Amino acid sequence: MDRVISYIEREKSRSINELTELLRIPSISSQTEHKKDMEKCADLVVNYLKSAGFEDVRIVPTKGHSIVYAQWLGAGKDAPTVLVYGHYDVQPVDPLDLWHSPPFEPVIKDGKIWARGCADDKGQLFCHIKSLEAHFKTNGKFPVNVKIVFEGEEEALESHLDEFIQNNSELLACDYTIISDTEWFADGLPTICYGLRGISFVEVTLTGPNRDLHSGSFGGAVDNPLNVLCKMVAQLKDNNGRITIPGFYDDVIDISQKEKDEFKKLPFDEKHYCKDLGIKSVNGEKGFTTLERIWIRPTLDLNGIVGGYTGEGAKTIIPSKASAKLSMRLVPNQNPEDISKNFEKYFRSLAPETVSVDVKLAPGGNPVITPLDSKAVKAAVSALKSAFGKEVVYMREGGSIPVADMFSSVLNAETVFMGFGLPTDNIHSPNENYSLENFYNGIKASAYFFDFISKV
Ligand code: BES
Ligand code: MN
Ligand code: MN
Repeated sequence: MDRVISYIEREKSRSINELTELLRIPSISSQTEHKKDMEKCADLVVNYLKSAGFEDVRIVPTKGHSIVYAQWLGAGKDAPTVLVYGHYDVQPVDPLDLWHSPPFEPVIKDGKIWARGCADDKGQLFCHIKSLEAHFKTNGKFPVNVKIVFEGEEEALESHLDEFIQNNSELLACDYTIISDTEWFADGLPTICYGLRGISFVEVTLTGPNRDLHSGSFGGAVDNPLNVLCKMVAQLKDNNGRITIPGFYDDVIDISQKEKDEFKKLPFDEKHYCKDLGIKSVNGEKGFTTLERIWIRPTLDLNGIVGGYTGEGAKTIIPSKASAKLSMRLVPNQNPEDISKNFEKYFRSLAPETVSVDVKLAPGGNPVITPLDSKAVKAAVSALKSAFGKEVVYMREGGSIPVADMFSSVLNAETVFMGFGLPTDNIHSPNENYSLENFYNGIKASAYFFDFISKV
């Protein structure tokens, strides 16, 4: 391993330069104008995988964006197979005016690289490419069989990766899956994430009168779909922060007191948390702590609501339509399809007959929990310790990786989330950044992981 680690040290500047090239490509999966950029990005990832030692690298087209697949099976039938998952697509960049430098012109400043996608997830998936390259260039082989699945639709709701996994379970057969797309509890605290929330996503549109109306001539007599929508959305949670959809909590599993006690040991400072966010206090479901609210309780949020006139000056109207996007974060054992269906039924029941309701249900994602005593988690813990020289903490996560559950449920593989992001990375937000220290040591952690997992 010493030689692998020295290779990583020696190649640091090339690694960051190559990552910079990857970050220059605006691979925003949810915006159709970036279709070509998605292809360009997949091509560049393919090139990097080839230079890392993979000969069998494929671009798998889907109805949406392509999957980058690669495999190296040179370790032989008796050696374990590790599948590496990551995503090369990124979130949209707006509001653009809040960025200190253009999102697709990476800048290195204050020990970080700044660009959209640097932490989520290009910088993290790149750690694996570079660590595998280090193994290959040093030893002419990888320590284990390796399969790579990098998707281009994680940040878009319609992912075709589920279908690909279901139809290709033999191709993708593996013993372990490693995913680096999560963050640490705090800077300086290498973290294994062992749970992600699932997600249901819905879009609703209310239509009232067949055209916008003068709010003086008609106001008071004709229901305003925007007012109605606000009222309906407000009814989705009660005063205790509980979601009112019937049956919503039926499948929620309570966690043990022991696990709750573990949460309390983490250095969470609520005052600091509020200060950082610029809020006076937190708020959420009564009877739960902040970490519990984020990690082990489901929730519902408006992501956006539109309707009527929002341009300069006044335009006194009753809008004909109003719509909203909502996400629900789910915990074991809630099922995204059931939850979405229950949402639709309840939401429709709240609507007065003065409006018509359209509900679009997007495919969601299951929550995931990975057992802490698995070989994959143990290898990742040792790898983080070796690379960062510190003890590891464990946390759950409020965000979602919709496909993550399929690696265990379909492929029967032990999954581990060994992320290198930090809570200050501003993912999905302006000024996304990724710590260079975590990038370089992340490459080493990945290299150690492949070594350790080959020996268990
Ligand atoms: N990497 C994130 C998930 C995540 C968020 C991990 C925060 C750790 C901390 C992932 O790319 C993501 O953003 N997922 C989306 C999925 C959605 C678009 C279906 C999410 O959670 O909103
Ligand atoms: Mn991600
Ligand atoms: Mn993301």
